[in-house]
Amino acid sequence: MNTIIIDGKHTSERVRRNLRSVIEQLKQAGHTPGLAVVLVGEDPASQVYVNSKVKACEELGIYSQKWVMPTETSQEELVQLIDRLNHDDRIHGILVQSPPPPHIDEAAVVLCIDPRKDVDGFHPVNVAKLVMEDSSGFVPCTPLGCMELLKEYGIETKGKHAVIIGRSMIVGKPMAHLLMSKQANATVTVAHSRTTNLADLCRTADILVAAVGRPGLVTAQYVKPGAVVLDVGINRVEDPTRPRGYRIVGDVNYDEVAPLCSAITPVPGGVGPMTIAMLMANTVKACRASCGVD
Ligand code: GUN
Repeated sequence: MNTIIIDGKHTSERVRRNLRSVIEQLKQAGHTPGLAVVLVGEDPASQVYVNSKVKACEELGIYSQKWVMPTETSQEELVQLIDRLNHDDRIHGILVQSPPPPHIDEAAVVLCIDPRKDVDGFHPVNVAKLVMEDSSGFVPCTPLGCMELLKEYGIETKGKHAVIIGRSMIVGKPMAHLLMSKQANATVTVAHSRTTNLADLCRTADILVAAVGRPGLVTAQYVKPGAVVLDVGINRVEDPTRPRGYRIVGDVNYDEVAPLCSAITPVPGGVGPMTIAMLMANTVKACRASCGVD
């Protein structure tokens, strides 16, 4: 099969290029989009993600604030910070990096974020808007990035059977809603850890989305020839041959699966780069809404 390798880096650069001109116009009208990124604790992967988000803001001319709080920060201190950011007119988007330390009640923290600034799309108001297909809400960045990739590559979703492996609030559930929406018109099955005959089910998919966090779970026997495979997994596996001692792999056994597919996202370089691009897009959307452009 002549497999198309879906290039997330290239697509994310196109998204950023488009945003740059919108940001320029907003600035000329006196509105600079602003994002606050909050990290509680010292998780090394989270530190990398947070720094990448701040860097992306700098490159686009988005104002940013980075808040790094110690692991022992209390729920109350975190909520106080969010409250301040909710009332800070320079800030249009607030993101609290997930996962926080175990003593923090993440759902309660999300509830404190002003839904109009919830650029992660995790607040129940935005979850409801997604389910209701109200486009004024914010959609979580990773599934939004997946949809952008499908659009960029002209991949038809209408009438297709999409199987999503994983039912998380960050990827699986919102992805299901986006694919079943009247915009995309796919028929969606959501599989999870208790699904029986997972490989047989996945083999019925025209579009297979893997978002479980299990390295290499999806092998050739999971994939119908000609299917489109989106690999959302970002897993660290030990690799003593690498300088860092690990490498990043997806949920898909790429070497085995890629030859079967009509299109596939690699890891890294597929879905990953889209997440930050869509965060920037959501921040610009929040700014436009706040100044009445939308
Ligand atoms: N951790 C992993 N992905 C995400 C994300 O999209 N948003 C936040 N806040 N934390 C994450």
